[in-house]
Amino acid sequence: MKIAVCEGDGIGHEVIPPAKEVLKHFLPDADYFDVFVGYDKWKETGESSSDSDIALFKSSDAILFGAITTPPVPEYKSVILRIRQELDLYANLRPVKGSIFGQDFDIMIVRENTEGLYSGIEEIGEERSTTLRVITKHGSERIAKMACTLSIERGHKMPLVIGNKANVLKSDVLFRDSCIKTAGLMGVKTKPMFIDALTFDVLMHPLSYDVIVTTNLFGDILSDACGYLTGGLGMLPSANIGEKNAFFEPVHGSAPDIAGQGIANPSAAIRSAAMMLDYFGMKKEAGIVEDAVIKVISSGVKTPDLGGKNSTKEAGEKILEYIKKIDST
Ligand code: NAD
Ligand code: IPM
Ligand code: MN
Repeated sequence: MKIAVCEGDGIGHEVIPPAKEVLKHFLPDADYFDVFVGYDKWKETGESSSDSDIALFKSSDAILFGAITTPPVPEYKSVILRIRQELDLYANLRPVKGSIFGQDFDIMIVRENTEGLYSGIEEIGEERSTTLRVITKHGSERIAKMACTLSIERGHKMPLVIGNKANVLKSDVLFRDSCIKTAGLMGVKTKPMFIDALTFDVLMHPLSYDVIVTTNLFGDILSDACGYLTGGLGMLPSANIGEKNAFFEPVHGSAPDIAGQGIANPSAAIRSAAMMLDYFGMKKEAGIVEDAVIKVISSGVKTPDLGGKNSTKEAGEKILEYIKKIDST
């Protein structure tokens, strides 16, 4: 088993080490290797990732990734977008779990990860700049298939919600209709909703949602908004899945405002490691990690974003301790 590890920038250096410790507990014999990419690399070498970095990622069975700072300058090429495109990691799975009014919600956002407004087809001018939003039948059908498979696996508790803006964007008519057609063939009920009203309603009624499929930028925004339901961005993990490769990272970024202070919440990164275990078929182990994160937080071990005083290191150590205790019983 070859696992590439990239801390990235900012709090990536703080939240990835505890997540890696969790992986090493369950996969002690895996071959872990570091890949150095990102803003720090760009400052040092003038490139954020090289062809050989991408080849290293491709050679891995899975990638554990922190977060990368993306300076808003046109000459900087986003490493994450490059990895998603070149490894064709078309499905970005972003679970949102928590509880409200004493009841648990468990939502899975399935974000199309290679096209939409992230096509990279842009014309930058002084007077006018454009970005092409690309929606294809192939891209829409394959993400819909992933979402339907998850809906079925999860017991098809509620209709598959299709987050779209087909009332304004004609490109979304193709997305919505491709999803409806694919779901019909797979026997999954669908409920198309406009993304603006959907975002509001998920925050109001999280218990009413199961799987939501949507396009690239809408999924990006919807998942951060859902951080509101979970106590913050420090709680949300993600998996970027393709046919050959998979990479696991927190939904959050490099958080320059708190980087270097040792106070970032490691839960999102540790839960991303759990998603990797799940991807490897280690469902029981993934469940133990999930449980550990929740139990340790509810025991009062909290980083400042959750209202506590614990450090990243303390929270990570407590979670690992809990995992070791449960796993040995
Ligand atoms: P961010 O997610 O880094 O931070 C937003 C807010 O959430 C900040 O106040 C931050 O302190 C807080 N936060 C995030 N993660 C936290 C954690 N684990 N614990 C406690 N608090 C946490 O978003 P941003 O500030 O808009 O972006 C910063 C940089 O990160 C930008 O350069 C952006 O492009 C990049 N980014 C990278 C990724 C990625 O690599 N996957 C994702 C999002 C943003
Ligand atoms: C995310 C991030 C990325 C995105 C950025 C950093 C390229 O916000 O993974 O959610 O927009 O997809
Ligand atoms: Mn984002």
